[in-house]
Amino acid sequence: MTRETEYAIEVDRLTKRYGDFPAVNDISFSVSKGEVFAFLGPNGAGKTSTVEIIETIRMPTSGKVTLLGMDVTKKKHEIVHRIGVLPQAFSSFDRITVRETLQYYSRLFSVKTDLDGLIELVNLGDKTKEQYKNLSGGLKQRLGIAIALVNDPEVVFLDEPTTGLDPLARHEVWEVLLGLKKKGKTVFLTTHYMEEAELLADTVAIISKGKIIAMGSPGELIEDNANYLALTLRSVDEKVLEIVQKLGFGTVPDKHKNIRIRVEQTYDVQKILQAIKDAGARYRSLDVRRPNLEEVFLKLTGEALREELPEMEAE
Ligand SMILES: Nc1ncnc2c1ncn2[C@@H]1O[C@H](COP(=O)(O)OP(=O)(O)OP(=O)(O)O)[C@@H](O)[C@H]1O
Ligand SMILES: [Mg+2]
Repeated sequence: MTRETEYAIEVDRLTKRYGDFPAVNDISFSVSKGEVFAFLGPNGAGKTSTVEIIETIRMPTSGKVTLLGMDVTKKKHEIVHRIGVLPQAFSSFDRITVRETLQYYSRLFSVKTDLDGLIELVNLGDKTKEQYKNLSGGLKQRLGIAIALVNDPEVVFLDEPTTGLDPLARHEVWEVLLGLKKKGKTVFLTTHYMEEAELLADTVAIISKGKIIAMGSPGELIEDNANYLALTLRSVDEKVLEIVQKLGFGTVPDKHKNIRIRVEQTYDVQKILQAIKDAGARYRSLDVRRPNLEEVFLKLTGEALREELPEMEAE
């Protein structure tokens, strides 16, 4: 029986053990239709184990997983036609061209694929005659995404689609993923890049050691776990540090005469700048920044940096 549901994926108390080791430990979450859901976690967190259970490839030890209303352990045949999968560390036939590869996979699925539309979606129009082995890492991943789409799936799983890519190639894959979202596909993405999750995902679940330790939109996660602003003053006079400390703010100076200050609200920034001005002290430049998902992740996974002030981007 297929149930109509607003969720593309429902995971209820899923556990996966290898021997005694609980790689996935009693997790529950759901993914709404049409959203990009990012499963964010470090190596060995249990991402691939979870995603491959949802894809019907691995069997759960316990718990229930439903995809488009169907039990993934019971409806494997129906499910594979409605999903697309880019496996972790994907690879394809070396000496087959981009177009031949896509033709082959569409035959496997016995579907008529709009190959030109697909090639355009992943932006491989000028590479159709190129053999797989001659493609760069980013192009290979984009071909992998195209393969995952040959059967026009409703739900697309991408297991670390940008790992190992240079920044430009990563951005080009992100463009493709944004295109998928626009087409209304449900996308389940695993990644260990926080900026990727922050940029692409409607919902992020942070997984660590088989447990989901936080879940929400990137904005909510930041709001709930790092609700402060980070003010950096650069090339400050000697007096500045003392002035800011006197006002009672936590400060972290560095050896380049920059100081980082954690403040609760924008009014605090005004207060600090006014005090510096009143004292006739100087600084060269400043910036005010909201913490990003990286800080939330580090805090929650217990690898947090200094307690009084999370690390900020290197200059
Ligand atoms: N088939 C298996 N047999 C035994 N142990 C396994 C198996 N698959 C995964 N594991 C172990 O389970 C844990 C979770 O692995 P999994 O591949 O799900 O993590 P991951 O979050 O995808 O990690 P990565 O970021 O490295 O891909 C790891 O400790 C891994 O070594
Ligand atoms: Mg993995």
